[in-house]
Amino acid sequence: MLIMSSKMELNGANIVQLPKNFDRRGNLSVIEELRNTPFKINRTYWIYDVPGGEVRGGHAYRQNQEFIVALSGSFDVILDNGRERKTYSLNRSYYGLYVPEGIWRQMENFSTNALALVLASIKFDPADYIYDYALFKELIKETGSINNKKIV
Ligand code: TYD
Repeated sequence: MLIMSSKMELNGANIVQLPKNFDRRGNLSVIEELRNTPFKINRTYWIYDVPGGEVRGGHAYRQNQEFIVALSGSFDVILDNGRERKTYSLNRSYYGLYVPEGIWRQMENFSTNALALVLASIKFDPADYIYDYALFKELIKETGSINNKKIV
């Protein structure tokens, strides 16, 4: 797995370069679980037809890890571990952003026809979500994480 970020940041979040087969007939990229993602894929969803200016995913997951690819168009993913915040701009279908558990994440600045593919480590579970940023910050402050796992 080729990790593009110069250092591990925000609890291990990083941009991963995916295999790419450039071909005059059209290009092809591929994701194999555990080879290109650091987790087993239990769920796949995608976000599309986002109206201009809309924001998606203002929340954190207690356990779920994600791998986000801009299959088409572009958008920004903002990650925040309660101490540090970073914006990752995705605009190539051969880069993926690994988002560890326990991080606040928001997606915005979607281009027209943007298509966001999201691979997730666990099945959909509403109890895994934290939607309240103040609560998120409080849990980080009190225990160092939102799932009682220490953030390094
Ligand atoms: P949500 O995770 O809040 O979307 P976003 O993070 O992009 O803002 O999900 C939006 C709706 O879709 C919500 O009603 C739950 C539903 N949903 C599922 O049923 N299964 C899923 O895997 C996901 C991610 C969402």
